[in-house]
Amino acid sequence: MDKIKIRGGRQLFGKVYISGAKNTALPIICASLLTDEPVTIKNIPFLSDITSLNNLLLQIGTKIDVKEEELNGHKTQTITYHTPEPSSLIAPYDYVRKMRASYYVLGPLLAKYRHVELSLPGGCAIGARPMDIHLTSLEQMGAHIEIKNGYVVADIDGRLKGAHVAFHSASVGATCNILMAATLAEGTTVIENAAKEPEIADLIDLLNKMGAKIEGANTSTLTITGVEKLHGMTHEIINDRIEAGSYAIAAAITKGRLELVNANAEHLKTPLDILRKMGVKIETTDNSIIVDAQNCTLHGEDVFTDYYPGFPTDLQAQFMALMCVSQGAAMITENIWENRFMHVPELMRMGANINVHGHASAIVRGVEKLSAAPVMSTDLRASFALILAGLVAEGETIVNRVYHLDRGYEHLEEKFKAVGADIERIKESDW
Ligand code: EPZ
Repeated sequence: MDKIKIRGGRQLFGKVYISGAKNTALPIICASLLTDEPVTIKNIPFLSDITSLNNLLLQIGTKIDVKEEELNGHKTQTITYHTPEPSSLIAPYDYVRKMRASYYVLGPLLAKYRHVELSLPGGCAIGARPMDIHLTSLEQMGAHIEIKNGYVVADIDGRLKGAHVAFHSASVGATCNILMAATLAEGTTVIENAAKEPEIADLIDLLNKMGAKIEGANTSTLTITGVEKLHGMTHEIINDRIEAGSYAIAAAITKGRLELVNANAEHLKTPLDILRKMGVKIETTDNSIIVDAQNCTLHGEDVFTDYYPGFPTDLQAQFMALMCVSQGAAMITENIWENRFMHVPELMRMGANINVHGHASAIVRGVEKLSAAPVMSTDLRASFALILAGLVAEGETIVNRVYHLDRGYEHLEEKFKAVGADIERIKESDW
């Protein structure tokens, strides 16, 4: 496993090109299974989660053609997915345990091929991560579902039937799965309390271009009129709001100035408002965000995570790192995941002053400075929080278990080096 070494104390200046959104790419790649025609997706980020999902699709029988191309000022991948006839309708444990989002094959394979066997992903570091909404909704649409030997085995006779489904939580994953399944169902499906994240709107855009009939994008009620067949097309995915938010915090914590190119400020309203309240200057254009924290004194602000457009849980750990070196106290409340404070003990090893109350709230009292330490990544976003802490800590921080970062942050060291960070990857072979 590689490590990342950071020598803290440098302000960051320059441009960071924001990549295509991981959490959009994953469902959209699986949506290609809904048609036997080729689907071309542009702006796919270079991430290990994409490689893992591609490997799963290869074993399902999808033909994958990858082209690298320059898009919006930086190198991206354009990938064509073509599944004329699947050779397997099974998503095995070894794939799903590596990448939970493999469960996005459930809706498309069931709707198009009437059978699917999906290993249950199980919990992970941030929580139990149940799938009850996905499964009960598919049952309401006429699927027969059994859990056998750790697998969801789902079948339908004929086509799925349109149904009125009401989610008990506005789940992103369930919204994507049921949306995809409903496109090929007989009749109309209405999803109540659907997730409203921008990633969902992008999936709806893609599905409608494929011939689906979906109304209600960006609202919590989605109406899908089923069609018999979808077709291929080309789609460019949106950029990653969480990556943009993470680099915005990097500018703030180092008291630097970064221009986040290809970032959509509309998708980051709540986190950018918090940064402004903390004292950071922010300007936005149609496709960029300029974050300027030079000569700013940062003050802690309370944050509570919520469904979109609320504050994203995927930026909670990074904001906590920022609060650690801001003046005053800030309360951070995690409302989405039951175990998403794993970064707290690591930040405390670097000198942070954090008190966790129960499993949902933490009070962070700002300290003058952090000191470098060897630390351990526990999940993707926690890992970025440790990088942020390392950027301002005195001395040399070593972040272990870097594979978490490689799942969701494209070309991380290159992007940081280009704006002045003293950061390098130590390959496992060089330890
Ligand atoms: C997506 O996960 C993201 N992953 C997560 O990002 C993100 O943290 C999460 O949405 C919330 O925004 C991807 O898009 C691949 P959910 P997902 O279903 O879809 C409960 C990252 O760092 N729930 O919206 O798995 C669940 O327990 C990752 O990039 C049920 O109760 O999350 C949670 O409390 C981590 N039953 C809430 O809903 C269900 O059947 C939201 O979960 C499904 C979910």
